Amino acid sequence: MPAARSRSGLFITFEGIDGSGKSSQARMLAKALQDAGHGVVLTREPGGSPGAEDIRSLVLTGDPGRWSAETELLLFTAARRDHLEKTIRPALDAGHIVLCDRFADSTRVYQGATRGDLRDLVDQVHSTMIGIEPDLTFVFDMDPAVALARGLARGSGEDRFEDFGLTFQQTLRQGFRDLAETFADRCQMIDAERNIADIHADLLARVSAALQ
Ligand code: ADP
Ligand code: TYD
Repeated sequence: MPAARSRSGLFITFEGIDGSGKSSQARMLAKALQDAGHGVVLTREPGGSPGAEDIRSLVLTGDPGRWSAETELLLFTAARRDHLEKTIRPALDAGHIVLCDRFADSTRVYQGATRGDLRDLVDQVHSTMIGIEPDLTFVFDMDPAVALARGLARGSGEDRFEDFGLTFQQTLRQGFRDLAETFADRCQMIDAERNIADIHADLLARVSAALQ
């Protein structure tokens, strides 16, 4: 069940490994909810505000070893703070449904538990600088080999994390599964190996239930 709603809007995040279909589903869900008459803000991290989009290009391009995990944590948090101030909080205050492609759980898994054991530091920085959690988080779960093939096929040029390779993606998958257990009140596991239409229908039903 989704966590109790603490604001007038509804904050939903999409998490999981690279190429698992999060952005495709977030787009489809946004359209379906808009068509049903809801106010919807579709956004993403890193990014989602002009300043955060600038930081996005710093962290997602270049050599895989360009930044340490600690530096990444600070860059992602700086981007998130700007995104929160300029986009997320105003939208929630206006009563909109915010659909966010990745949020703090990505930092917990990517910077917190995979590249150095920084999880405590990640949680400290999050509670100091960000301080909110989503009402509902969809955790997309699938075989990383299939997801990696999908992601690289996109050729977006933002493949710095995909470039860490399959073993890294397997570690991430486990990290997201563990996280979903830790935050079981708001996280829902999504079988992301199904076809696009089936996943969409599933997500729409889950959000409709959360809106009751
Ligand atoms: P993510 O945002 O998680 O990285 P995307 O939504 O960008 O994933 O999807 C990655 C690629 O996989 C895209 O080319 C997309 O069209 C394709 N894709 C997304 N969902 C599915 C699915 N359920 N089955 C097959 N291909 C998919
Ligand atoms: P993006 O292309 O948005 O993700 P995807 O490949 O799932 O579509 O790239 C975002 C990358 O940044 C992704 O590999 C995860 C990583 N990331 C972090 O390491 N920490 C974070 O806090 C966030 C938000 C993303």
